[in-house]
Amino acid sequence: MLGASRAVLSGLVGVLLTAAAAGATPEELARGELLFHIGGCTNCHTAKDGPLLAGGDPLVTPFGTFYAPNITPDPETGIGRWTREDFLRAMRFGKAPDGSPYYPAFPYTSYARMSDADLGALEAYLRTVPPVRRPNRAHELSFPYNLRWGLYLWQWLFHDPAPFRPDPARSETWNRGAYLVEGPGHCGECHTPRTIWGALDRDRAYAGGRLGKETIPNITSDPVRGIGGWSRGDLRTFLLIGIKPDGDFVGGEMAKVVRNGTAKLPEADREAIVEYLLSLPPR
Ligand code: HEC
Ligand code: HEC
Repeated sequence: MLGASRAVLSGLVGVLLTAAAAGATPEELARGELLFHIGGCTNCHTAKDGPLLAGGDPLVTPFGTFYAPNITPDPETGIGRWTREDFLRAMRFGKAPDGSPYYPAFPYTSYARMSDADLGALEAYLRTVPPVRRPNRAHELSFPYNLRWGLYLWQWLFHDPAPFRPDPARSETWNRGAYLVEGPGHCGECHTPRTIWGALDRDRAYAGGRLGKETIPNITSDPVRGIGGWSRGDLRTFLLIGIKPDGDFVGGEMAKVVRNGTAKLPEADREAIVEYLLSLPPR
């Protein structure tokens, strides 16, 4: 009896120590998990039927094929040796621990909008996924995109690392929606067209574009080109179960965004996304 309760107690102490070692509270881990879902990390970093976050399927782009790396806590092949600062630098500045720049196929250009506190919570959560030993696969890029140093110039010209700043003239719900969409949700990385430099064309934000062979729809409030004709309820249903107002199920990459992301959010966060999307100027 005493033995059993001592075992339970030492188990509990173990759990508490692990949490304390990572400096994470249960609230922080829960917040990190939510950000992990809406961040869609698994959509790129997990291969079909492969181990969670241990490296993804080929991501085909006009510049070549990328393979999202292993981001499990494995110390050899994952990011288990990284410090929290390393993680923050990658997500906000798009820089590896050795200072080299990342390709924007990794949507740090949006994740940079997240707060340090949220990035910290996400990092704490990622430490809780099982470490998997699986070496990374090199990207297959065409010249000159295979020259990583070109990204120093690209980042200098196009990357804004500033976190999201709330608009005091708008409601708290609108600001929460804007944060989720612009930051972790990285919706514009697909729905905003790109310039010839591969940077997001902010003047045409959310006006739709192309992703490989997929056509990405316009999600501004334009009633014809966009989703201005959708009711709040239509959009709420879409973000929860992926059914469009015409009864069609969502497909392709967006099906993953809904299933792994928006469907897993608390109701209030989905509502905030609805509020923000329906306020996007028509384009
Ligand atoms: C659209 C696909 C995509 C999504 C979504 C994505 N990543 Fe990545 N990620 C990549 C690619 C591609 C790279 C490699 C970039 C490079 O080599 O320059 C990468 C690199 C990284 C790295 C650097 C790893 C290393 O070994 O240097 C980290 C850390 C990372 N991603 C974390 C995340 C997290 C956390 C999320 C979710 C919030 C996420 N990624 C979502 C595609 C993605
Ligand atoms: C990886 C690329 C990608 C990301 C990221 C993405 N989307 Fe999509 N989205 C698509 C594609 C592709 C479609 C078209 C799917 C279809 O028609 O079956 C789509 C469709 C939609 C539609 C339906 C539009 C219509 O007219 O049918 C809405 C609304 C939408 N996305 C909202 C969002 C929101 C909100 C986010 C961020 C949380 C987001 N998307 C992130 C690729 C993406």
